[in-house]
Amino acid sequence: VVVSAEKHPGAGGESKGKGFAEEMRFVAMKLHTREQAAEGEMEAKAPEEQRVEKWEPTLDGYLKFLVNAKLVYDTLEEIIEEAAFPSYGEFRNSGLERSEKLARDLEWFREKGYGVGGPSAPGVTYAHYLKQLSDKDPQAFICHFYNVYFANSAGGRIISKKVTREILDNKELEYYKYDADLSQLLQTMRDKLNKVAEKWSRDDKNRCLEETQKSFQFYRNILRLILS
Ligand code: HEM
Repeated sequence: VVVSAEKHPGAGGESKGKGFAEEMRFVAMKLHTREQAAEGEMEAKAPEEQRVEKWEPTLDGYLKFLVNAKLVYDTLEEIIEEAAFPSYGEFRNSGLERSEKLARDLEWFREKGYGVGGPSAPGVTYAHYLKQLSDKDPQAFICHFYNVYFANSAGGRIISKKVTREILDNKELEYYKYDADLSQLLQTMRDKLNKVAEKWSRDDKNRCLEETQKSFQFYRNILRLILS
């Protein structure tokens, strides 16, 4: 799939005056498989690209997923907190943060006596990449920021249903809970993304959109842990 913005100038979003967040969504939706989302255009090959209902998750694998996802959220949240570029500061206290929620979930598992290990290659590699990127290319970094937080709000919900029922004995994790209305939090984030991107050139915007594919690759490697 060609995700370059030149193939879809305005990506159907700009022309409707919805702003850059709509372009980001347009590119992200195409990169889903048809099995994952109605707007997806990719063919499902790897197991984690299949319909979530068909997944065979394991508790061990799911714990690995949580630990690695936490490393990624810790990293994103530190980067936003430190704000090496002033635009990052706009994204502080969005209510979408997941680090503390995941810390509580992992603590719960530990108290119950489950073995919770440390992060492994998928999380470590992504965290390292994010840290480096955030110091040199804010537009590309913000693409990852958007995708990782929005992925949890949509696909995360679907995965949550599956694992809660099948491997968590109906225990509902904090990871999938938000302290305010989620659709409101997401809309506020889209407004912020639009505001920040108003200052970007078309080149900046394209660099951001073209990074979407990498965000999917890195995150998919972490999702795959659920099936390990
Ligand atoms: C949106 C499912 C993986 C990023 C969606 C939507 C669905 C979905 C159904 C549409 C939500 C809606 O508009 O109602 C899934 C499933 C996944 C998965 C089942 C894998 C098991 C990913 C990955 C990423 C991602 C790996 C990127 C790292 C996004 C983004 C949106 C989205 C940015 C747009 C959300 C919005 O505009 O509110 N996903 N997804 N997803 N997904 Fe995924």
